[in-house]
Amino acid sequence: MTPSTMNFAALPESLRLLYAPVLEDMGEVERILAAEMVSQDSFVDELVKYGFKLGGKRLRPALLLLSAKACGTITPEHHTLSAVVEMIHTATLVHDDVLDEADVRRHLATVNSRWGNEASVLLGDFLFTHAFYLASTLETTFACRVIGRATNIVCEGEIRQMGSCGVFSLTEEAYLEIIEAKTAELCACCCELGAHYAGVDEQLVARLARYGRYLGVAFQIADDLLDVVGEEKVAGKSLGTDLEKQKPTLPLIRTLQCANLKERQQLEAILNEDSSPQDGSACRARQLALWYDRFDAIRYSREKAQAYADRAMEEISPLPESDAKQVLQQIAQFVVARSA
Ligand code: IPE
Ligand code: IPE
Ligand code: MG
Ligand code: MG
Repeated sequence: MTPSTMNFAALPESLRLLYAPVLEDMGEVERILAAEMVSQDSFVDELVKYGFKLGGKRLRPALLLLSAKACGTITPEHHTLSAVVEMIHTATLVHDDVLDEADVRRHLATVNSRWGNEASVLLGDFLFTHAFYLASTLETTFACRVIGRATNIVCEGEIRQMGSCGVFSLTEEAYLEIIEAKTAELCACCCELGAHYAGVDEQLVARLARYGRYLGVAFQIADDLLDVVGEEKVAGKSLGTDLEKQKPTLPLIRTLQCANLKERQQLEAILNEDSSPQDGSACRARQLALWYDRFDAIRYSREKAQAYADRAMEEISPLPESDAKQVLQQIAQFVVARSA
């Protein structure tokens, strides 16, 4: 077994089944990733291989390949671009773990906790630049342009989110704009590239992009729910960091929206309370959980995520029936119900 197929075997059985129509193509993507993630220098080599070990769901390559297959035929360009989007996604995760001071990612110690923030910044940069170099090996500049635009928006979304930490007046509308930028844009880009390189007309390409965008919003709302109610062992990453960083996400935004003036003041006192890292944050989370219950904020957020997943499914319902289309529909359900 080569190292690349070994990594790929680490994909959970449920995802292997879900990705069935493109499983062989996913194997090809792993081979490209393994070929890219190398360096002559042993330290660089260790670091770049580390981020791709185990545990990632490979959702973005799957979206790209399934969009291609639902529209037509998968080509070598699709394989290359799938590796590119996974490298960009991983770069954002490596940087994000620095911002969130996270300890665990993809069931392993984060790069920042193992090698420090400087290594993480540089590894993220390595992944971004290698991704763009790889995209530039395609015949046309179209992919570079689309990926460049999407990455600009992702970075802007992350910066906007950083600026919103501690801003408890953040509206649901502003929250949705931020997650559309930081997460949904890359999903939309994957589906757009898949459709475009399958040679379909612009209207269909735009339809797939809309599917990816709605799906991405559903995905991030569900992710923000996991941060509140998920289990670290199952998710394979540090949870509770949104609250620790005072990042307003939908359950909190909804709770603050439902609260009266006095209740808002009580909530803000909890949120602004100084707490010791271990006990204090767990205690704050417990207190907030009671408020979420009181205003049914978890259910509200879940329903919001489901509504976006439904919109994603509606977008692709006019496509001709195929295995790939069916899986795209199932992925929309999966992202809302997932525990990892
Ligand atoms: C995590 O993405 C970051 C978010 C956008 C919420 P994934 O949950 O897809 O991470 P991996 O690739 O499976 O590790
Ligand atoms: C990160 O959002 C989204 C990115 C675009 C990197 P989160 O901070 O919620 O992602 P996780 O929960 O750490 O995976
Ligand atoms: Mg994070
Ligand atoms: Mg999260």
